Amino acid sequence: MYRHRFTDFTDALTPVYDRLFGAFIGKAHEAFRGRVLELAAPKNGERVLDAGCGTGLTALRIAQRYPGCAMYGVDISPKMIPAARKSAEGGGLAVAFRVGSITALPYPDAFFNVVITSILFHHLDLEEKRRAVGEVARVLAPGGRYISAEFGPRAANALQRRLAKGDYTLYPSHLEEAGLIIMRHEIQPFALGKKVSCRVAVKPSIPG
Ligand SMILES: C[S@@+](CC[C@H](N)C(=O)[O-])C[C@H]1O[C@@H](n2cnc3c(N)ncnc32)[C@H](O)[C@@H]1O
Repeated sequence: MYRHRFTDFTDALTPVYDRLFGAFIGKAHEAFRGRVLELAAPKNGERVLDAGCGTGLTALRIAQRYPGCAMYGVDISPKMIPAARKSAEGGGLAVAFRVGSITALPYPDAFFNVVITSILFHHLDLEEKRRAVGEVARVLAPGGRYISAEFGPRAANALQRRLAKGDYTLYPSHLEEAGLIIMRHEIQPFALGKKVSCRVAVKPSIPG
């Protein structure tokens, strides 16, 4: 059992997760992932982390499209990570996947040039969100970019907010509190009336 019930839910979906995205979320899923790739656009030699990478749907696309970057993926689920490794092997892609939590990332300070999260933050409560963004800021090198693609702007109704323990998304204040500067914000359609807030934030070279 995880702290958050969504994580048990996505864990159970592991064997069919990729097919579900393809079948039910279809074009919107490709569109928002494609936009994340464009916003991240890693240069050759850059280290990129997809935190809460799940089955690797975003990490594998990045490894394929930007073969010059060094791609890493971390997820709390010991079921999702083997599935991601299997897909990487099948596609002949080099991605260093490992099990770990975004609230205590298993990487040194300033290790990454780019960190990505996609549809992860609804799995975290408020305190975990703070720790998670703090960890993103810690592992980013000065000048590094954080690309977040999270459900938002906020829960559409009281039931969703209740299911998500009163909070459903990543707020700009979480990024600002961690010393990250938001450079860009746009909204992408998801599916079932949901939207994804895509943000690009930068870790300043000289802390503010
Ligand atoms: C909805 S899935 C999204 C997966 C992937 N990012 C994607 O775009 O398809 C959310 C993922 O977050 C993972 N997760 C939940 N809590 C986490 C944590 N504290 N640290 C890392 N991953 C976590 C879950 O195991 C699950 O794989």
